[in-house]
Parts: sequence; C-alpha cells; structure tokens
Amino acid sequence: MEIVIEARNLEYSYAGGIKALSGVSLDVFEGERLGILGPNGAGKSTLILLISGLIKPNNGWIKVFGKETRSKEFERIRSSIGVVFQDPDDQLFNNTVFDDVAYGPRSLGMDEDAVKRIVNETLKIMGIDHLANRPPHRLSYGEKKKVAIATALVMKPKILLLDEPTANLDPKSKIDLLGILKDLNRRGTTLVLTTHDVEILPDFIERMVLMNSGRILGSGLTREILCDEWMLQEASMEPPLLVKLFTRLKSKGLVEKVPLTVDEAERIIDEALKRPAKGQFANLSN
Ligand SMILES: Nc1ncnc2c1ncn2[C@@H]1O[C@H](COP(=O)(O)OP(=O)(O)OP(=O)(O)O)[C@@H](O)[C@H]1O
Ligand SMILES: [Mg+2]
Repeated sequence: MEIVIEARNLEYSYAGGIKALSGVSLDVFEGERLGILGPNGAGKSTLILLISGLIKPNNGWIKVFGKETRSKEFERIRSSIGVVFQDPDDQLFNNTVFDDVAYGPRSLGMDEDAVKRIVNETLKIMGIDHLANRPPHRLSYGEKKKVAIATALVMKPKILLLDEPTANLDPKSKIDLLGILKDLNRRGTTLVLTTHDVEILPDFIERMVLMNSGRILGSGLTREILCDEWMLQEASMEPPLLVKLFTRLKSKGLVEKVPLTVDEAERIIDEALKRPAKGQFANLSN
C-alpha cells in the first residue's frame, strides 16, 4: 500500500516555548481511515496543522504525496488536502453558509452554475441545505461544524484531515457523519481523524495512533489499542464502555472475549448463554 503522508521526528513549539510535539513519526497509507486518539493537549490539532502544511515543524519533516510541506512543490498538491479545523469559527468567514461552501470551488475558477450544483449537492449530503442562506456566525455549534465539514467535502480532496469532527454533534448527526465519511472513504479518500471520543472508533476506524504529551505512545489496530488497558491508562484515556464491562465479565469467567461493537457483544453473550451452566450468566437465559 502506498504511503501518502510520511512524518519523521516532528518537533513543534508554539510561541512562548510551549512544546506541543516531541519526536512524532507517522505513516498514513492511501485509502485508510486513521484515527488519532489522545487527551486534551496531547498535540492532535498541532499534528493536523503540520500535516496540512499550515504550520511547519521546528525539527523533522513531513511529506504529503512525497512533497515536503516546506517545499514549493507542496503548494501544487495543497488543494488535494482537505482540512476541517477543530473550531469551525476558524473556517467560516462569509456572509452565508452557501458562500462559505462556495468559496473553495469559486477560487478554483469554476463557473457559477457548476458552483451552485456542487454546493447544493454538498449541503444536501451534509443535511444542511435548509441553512444555505443563514449567516454562519449565527448557527449553533453543531450546525457550524457541519458547514465547516461541507467546505472541505465540496473540494473532493484526496486526503481529508478532520480535527474532532464529531465533537458537539447530536447522536444521529454523529452516525450520519460517520456514514458520509465512510462513503467518501469507499470512493478513495484517505481519512485522518482526531478524537478523544473512544466510542466512535470501533465502528469507524481500523487503525489508530494513541498520543499523549506530544508523543505517540503506540499505534496499531483499533482493537489492539482499545483493549490495551495499560497503554490507555498511560495516555490518560478510558476504554469504551463495552470494553470496560466485558473486561470485567471476562475476568470473572463469564464471557470469553471482549467485544468492540454492540453486534459483537450480542454474539459473545449468546455464546455465553449457550455454554453449560457455569456462573450467573446462564441464569439470564431462563
Ligand atoms: N496557539 C497556541 N499557542 C500556544 N500554545 C498552544 C497553542 N495551541 C496549542 N498550544 C499548546 O500545545 C499543546 C498541544 O495542543 P493541541 O491543541 O495540539 O492539543 P490537542 O490534542 O488538539 O488537544 P484538544 O483535545 O484539547 O483539542 C498544548 O499544551 C497546548 O496548550
Ligand atoms: Mg485539538
């Protein structure tokens, strides 16, 4: 599989000497959905800004499609990278939602009919076509977040970087968004997403990295990382509720495996109920 983002030994300090990243190395493969999990202040947003080329590392380097973000050639591939900032107010600055989403396509010189078509299509996909004529700064936070995502989607980027895309979305909007992103990914877009919401990872992310204090503590399959109690603790993160519950049940011998999804949990409980009566779980089937 081709590597589309390659970062080596990234160091980054903000003004005032605050060290945000210390020696971060990372490969992202074409077509994958990579999750970056970590607590507040871990350096997730800083890493996203570095990948997008908006800030440059103090040390180390980062290449996207083989072009170092410091190089001139990087400017040519910049439009193939979509970024959704953590704070939608950093992304919305036009008078209407329509104009904010139209900004990118217009700046590419697209004719107005084509702009209308593609913007309306994107607003519809995001379920926000009713907001088209509203001023973005007067929207609810979740609505703004959806508009910010639309401004990135409309450009059909090859790589989409999403900084906490599900923060502040209601449960249905969260599921809808993950569905939209999965669809996009199926059609070839590489996704890199940060979050501290462990619950969105199992259904959506196959591979993830765990960050804390400006470092990557580990990377691997979502299952490996989310079931690694020690590593999560080291990162000041909690496992998903299902993992927590079933780890306890497993330690009591009531179940044999720890699930990541509700479907898996159902199967594991079914199996446990079919086993010869051995603990209280067997009583549940009566
Ligand atoms: N503009 C800034 N100026 C100075 N320090 C900053 C700035 N932005 C972030 N930092 C610091 O850099 C470190 C990493 O911040 P970053 O925003 O990358 O973390 P994060 O993992 O995205 O956190 P969160 O989950 O809260 O979004 C933190 O210690 C933070 O205080
Ligand atoms: Mg952040």
